[in-house]
Amino acid sequence: MQQLQDSFGRKFPYIRMSITDVCNFKCGYCLPNGYQVDKSDNRKFLHLDEIKRLAKCFSELGVLKIRITGGEPTVRKDFFEIIKVLKFDAGINKVVITTNGYHLDKKAKLLVDSGLSGINISIDSLDREIFKNITGHDRLPEILQGIKNLQDLSFNNIKINAVLLNGINASEKDFDNWSKFIQNNEVDFRYIELMQTGDNLDYFKKYHISSNFFKSYLNKNKWIYQTMGKDAGPALNYINPEYKGKFGIIAPYSKDFCKSCNRLRITSRGDLRLCLFGNTGISVRHLLQKDDQLSELKDLILKQMQFKKESHYLELGETGSTKNLSKTGG
Ligand code: 5AD
Ligand code: SF4
Repeated sequence: MQQLQDSFGRKFPYIRMSITDVCNFKCGYCLPNGYQVDKSDNRKFLHLDEIKRLAKCFSELGVLKIRITGGEPTVRKDFFEIIKVLKFDAGINKVVITTNGYHLDKKAKLLVDSGLSGINISIDSLDREIFKNITGHDRLPEILQGIKNLQDLSFNNIKINAVLLNGINASEKDFDNWSKFIQNNEVDFRYIELMQTGDNLDYFKKYHISSNFFKSYLNKNKWIYQTMGKDAGPALNYINPEYKGKFGIIAPYSKDFCKSCNRLRITSRGDLRLCLFGNTGISVRHLLQKDDQLSELKDLILKQMQFKKESHYLELGETGSTKNLSKTGG
């Protein structure tokens, strides 16, 4: 089988696909004023047939896992249909999503029934007030209830992400809250270091803090660094035999972060993005219109792989065309 591989020998069995830019939250680091229609881009979001053709193509290029992201992917009316189509029509083994957890209590059963393999939920703090201040929504209880509902249905591939924010949630108290949470709870909790985007420079300057701050906490509390598996993504994982869950760190500014890059991205309007940051990427949408374009589409995507760069060059302050992460889903 032809496989996706770049000129640095990295393979790409994993695609992150955004299906909408729309989001109903207002996270301070992403969409502080809520979602605004992008007037400079009147293209519609990919429709179900286009998504199906694209996923089928990726499946034939050796892709085993697709993560559906947004914006907030569950705001799409055909969201559950999309999951089913990827899994059962396009033949993608593992379909997973990233969500802000909106109405998770009510959606848990439908998610499990749709054949989903895993879920990443963004929860920036277990403190209800802090959560509300960051996201603009007092919805922590419904999200926690949602997690419980998933677990009651024996759905256990649950990851929680929080963006680490200086003076907001980067505190011993927040770390202890998560520690208690994962003690008897089989979830992976990871802090993501805040990334600079085109829109959030002032916010970034004010709230960015190195993930070393959390790393010291882990070391002090006897968490053990788990060396990376061959196909592991960029998260650093920590285990502790007395805990059911795991801790993790995603530190995009760390040296060698990009070495383990195993993913490509598709934007909600059908642009192939080779990196979350940077300007490399082209639209593949013209080749998603008919079933018989499949081999042409494959060739185009394979050819693009040579343009993937070694690193994101974020440390140089380059954010490329990334205004905020609601377009590419993090
Ligand atoms: N820096 C780091 N993480 C971010 N996310 C959104 N914007 C940023 C940013 N600027 C995270 C969200 C979510 C995931 C999709 O990306 O919190 O966990
Ligand atoms: Fe929405 Fe996610 Fe951005 Fe928060 S980080 S505003 S949940 S897209």
